[in-house]
Amino acid sequence: MNALPSHPPSLMNNYQPLPISFVRGEGCRLWDAEGREYLDALAGVAVTSVGHSHPRIVEAIREQAGMLLHTSNLYRIDWQVRLAERLTTLAGMHRAFFCNSGAEANETALKLARLHAQRKGIRQPLVVVMENSFHGRTFATLSASDSPSCQAGFAPLVDGFIKVPFGHVLALQALAQSHGQRITAVLVEPVQGESGVQVAPSGYLKALRELCDAQQWLLMLDEIQTGLGRTGRWFAGQHEGVVPDVMTLAKALGNGLPIGACLAAGPAAELFGPGSHGSTFGGNPLACRVACTVLQIMEQEGLVANAQRQGEQLLEGLRAALNDHPQVLAVRGHGLMIGIDLRQPGRHLAELAAREYRLLINIARGQTIRLLPPLTLGDADREAIVERVLALLDSVR
Ligand SMILES: Cc1ncc(COP(=O)(O)O)c(C=O)c1O
Repeated sequence: MNALPSHPPSLMNNYQPLPISFVRGEGCRLWDAEGREYLDALAGVAVTSVGHSHPRIVEAIREQAGMLLHTSNLYRIDWQVRLAERLTTLAGMHRAFFCNSGAEANETALKLARLHAQRKGIRQPLVVVMENSFHGRTFATLSASDSPSCQAGFAPLVDGFIKVPFGHVLALQALAQSHGQRITAVLVEPVQGESGVQVAPSGYLKALRELCDAQQWLLMLDEIQTGLGRTGRWFAGQHEGVVPDVMTLAKALGNGLPIGACLAAGPAAELFGPGSHGSTFGGNPLACRVACTVLQIMEQEGLVANAQRQGEQLLEGLRAALNDHPQVLAVRGHGLMIGIDLRQPGRHLAELAAREYRLLINIARGQTIRLLPPLTLGDADREAIVERVLALLDSVR
């Protein structure tokens, strides 16, 4: 194994990378400089959904880089318009704004919520957010997140957020009674990824939709991790037939090329006017062309249905293999988003899995193995994931 320092002294000390480095990827596999092969059950945290180095993505990048990278949003960008049309059609939304990351997409959503409040004459607006949520690291998205460790040291945070337990409609109904006049929007992840794949009870999003309609609050779904096929539908809200007023996307949209999107429907889509928001790089021809190619690949290779099928089988396989395992408290998931709760803290397991079992996983909140394999996952790799997770957990019995 490489003797790489965990903290290269030239880099700020905000990450704790494992001392493993990759030089090449293909599909569900990655290779390090020594030629060792790893099975990728994390996809760069739900990003490389169509697999590493997909030939059509490589070709799109190559061709577009040779033609045009950037013109600015002072000019019409045809790839941006195409991407907006495709995404809004898939999501049942009306308009799109493009940026470069998930946090920026959520910032956009939060700005829409403020404009919505202004239209309604709310002076001190509140956005409802969920316990254990994660929405990003910019000031507003950090403030919207329920993560004391991420927030530590950054006070004063942005105010205007109020928290309720995730998955509890009654708590939100109570809030409607106590703070209803000040609330402008509800921001929620359909499945909470960073906090260990917390799946809301079925019917939750539908109930939120009804409450938001009744109260004229914007329903804003953060689909940055759940969107684009990850849960076995194009967007997780679609499991319950829910179309939000605002939806945010990033991660898998560029398969590794940075791009984020904020989609809006109905009156929420009309809130911005010229000058109200912007981004220098947002929606550039390269990122938008790659994202169009990602969507095409997903459709042509049937990856949404594959995520649904493989997700069900992976969950079933893991449950069968880990049933009564002394290290395991619970196994849950939605599509190809799977969490395995451990009895003990397991931060060291990500490195052990990579070193000993050549399997890339993540440990969420210190005690949950999180699996987010590429949506291209096949039967053999799915079975290999189950075998290697079992071997890993057996090794620490
Ligand atoms: C649900 C959710 N929202 C927002 C973000 C922030 O995205 P980014 O890191 O691209 O800013 C993440 C990243 O993990 C996420 O999972």
